[in-house]
Amino acid sequence: MSSELESKASFEATVCGFLCRQFTRPKPIPATTKLTNQVAIVTGSNVGLGLEACRQLLKLGLSRLIMAVRSQTRGEVAAQDLRKAFPAAIISVWTVDFESYESICAFADRCKTLPRLDIAILNAGIMKSPFTIVPSTKHETMCQVNYLSTVLLGLLLLPILKQKGRTGGNSRPPVLTFVGSDRAYEVTVEKKGPVIQQLDRPEHFTQFEWYGKTKLLLILFVSTLAELVDPDDVLVNMANPGMTKGTDFFRGIPSIFMPIIRFGQFLLARPVAVAASIYVDAVTARGNESHGSFLSDWTIKPYPSLCYTQEGYHIRERLWEETLAELNFAGVSKIIRKVPGDRQR
Ligand SMILES: NC(=O)c1ccc[n+]([C@@H]2O[C@H](COP(=O)([O-])OP(=O)(O)OC[C@H]3O[C@@H](n4cnc5c(N)ncnc54)[C@H](OP(=O)(O)O)[C@@H]3O)[C@@H](O)[C@H]2O)c1
Repeated sequence: MSSELESKASFEATVCGFLCRQFTRPKPIPATTKLTNQVAIVTGSNVGLGLEACRQLLKLGLSRLIMAVRSQTRGEVAAQDLRKAFPAAIISVWTVDFESYESICAFADRCKTLPRLDIAILNAGIMKSPFTIVPSTKHETMCQVNYLSTVLLGLLLLPILKQKGRTGGNSRPPVLTFVGSDRAYEVTVEKKGPVIQQLDRPEHFTQFEWYGKTKLLLILFVSTLAELVDPDDVLVNMANPGMTKGTDFFRGIPSIFMPIIRFGQFLLARPVAVAASIYVDAVTARGNESHGSFLSDWTIKPYPSLCYTQEGYHIRERLWEETLAELNFAGVSKIIRKVPGDRQR
């Protein structure tokens, strides 16, 4: 488990750590893996890693796929190709906008109508510049999309996964996978004061830094969440695809930087099909050992060093309280009490 890998954490933040991750040989999904009769949700699945993950899940025999996207039109275009390639599967496009709590709640309500739910991959994410605030929530946009709304959807899906994940005789527990990033190894947050508010201040904003911070917050929160959820009810883990080429991820980057990014990708980045297999590994091949852990390169990796320190522990606790206070309008504290794990027993 990531919680036991403290001694390896500092290496992951080095250039060598990054290169070792990028050049790890892919691990194939066990040939016996079958998702027959299973239902999955993948957010941000009209393009990039989300779309490729959908394709790979369908190849494994997934019966029903919910493509959770913010544009019905863009989602339908992507779904068309998948429907042609996998005519036996039911593929639906449902809208959800991670810049709106209302939209997240409506999407989660709609998920309650599913006959079963085995897999949820929370992949939607952005890296953008300049600094912007989401008017309805007053939070910085990356913090909203990559952290707050992702966490809200994860929490709202927990009881649905618990209730609908074991139907149909599935021997594995349902899986909730949050998509993280190894950029989290390279950033930190201020040690004192409120945590979320730090990201809502424009001073010192750079998109790479803020993006990494949102993914660090995600690790801090999800590692706590996993302690409160029984892995036999819902397996909760995080997956890092690593630097990937062939997605729309860098669309918000000023064009002046694009030649450098393209060159870096040419040398180091994974093809999207290879990177998406890390998600598939997380949801099909990993068991209880991955609960609360950070998966990267088809294996369990340490958390960022901060998470193992006393300061990190206090930040984690503060972040937990702040996040629940922010999201409690949707009844999230009650939800957590209903999926008891080790810490709650
Ligand atoms: N690419 C990399 O090198 C890399 C490395 C590490 C981690 N990751 C993580 O992997 C995930 C997928 O990245 P990607 O490379 O596939 O990027 P991508 O091609 O840009 O895909 C991102 C997806 O997120 C969706 N999205 C963005 N904002 C949204 C919102 N407000 N509401 C709903 N959906 C929203 C996008 O929808 P639209 O198309 O409608 O905008 C798109 O479907 C992200 O979480 C990213 O942080 C990527």
